[in-house]
Amino acid sequence: MIIAQLATAATAVRLTLHVLAASVWVGGQLVVAGLLPTIRSLGPDAAKKIAQAFGRLQWPAYAVLVLTGLWNVSVTRKGQGSAWQVVLGVKITVVALAGLAAFLLDAAPPPVNIDDAVLTAQIIEAAQASARAGAAESLPPAGRDSEP
Ligand code: HEM
Repeated sequence: MIIAQLATAATAVRLTLHVLAASVWVGGQLVVAGLLPTIRSLGPDAAKKIAQAFGRLQWPAYAVLVLTGLWNVSVTRKGQGSAWQVVLGVKITVVALAGLAAFLLDAAPPPVNIDDAVLTAQIIEAAQASARAGAAESLPPAGRDSEP
């Protein structure tokens, strides 16, 4: 009796943690993606700061997701058919790829700010034009030698 109750409680804990972690991992990414235009409008550093803050939530959630996923597998694997195994394999692959993509995105350098890039190009262009003008001024006027 008490064993059955403990097993039911363990199942509740296992599935609650699994679904909660999945909600934070998947739902959090969707919410941050939806808020990105607003976040970017708050300043050049805002997206980076939000990504760092979100990382402090998403990686623990990912760890709980994988750990409870393995717990799920260990409890429910017995007697499952091949379709179950295939679906689980696909699911684990998708979760691994999503984790890798999120990790690479975290590690990637920030995207080039297009306004900064345009400004830099304008500064280089202006510097080149001024250098050309300076070089032209220092040359002797054309045809000076032929004058009497
Ligand atoms: C984004 C990732 C994931 C999502 C969204 C997700 C979602 C879910 C959901 C909604 C359930 C059903 C829970 C229920 O019956 O109440 C479940 C069950 C399960 N998950 Fe995941 N999961 C994810 C990752 C994983 C991983 C990484 C593993 C394995 C390493 C895994 C293994 C399992 C197993 C074996 C079950 C069956 C549990 C049972 O029937 O008692 N999951 N998952």
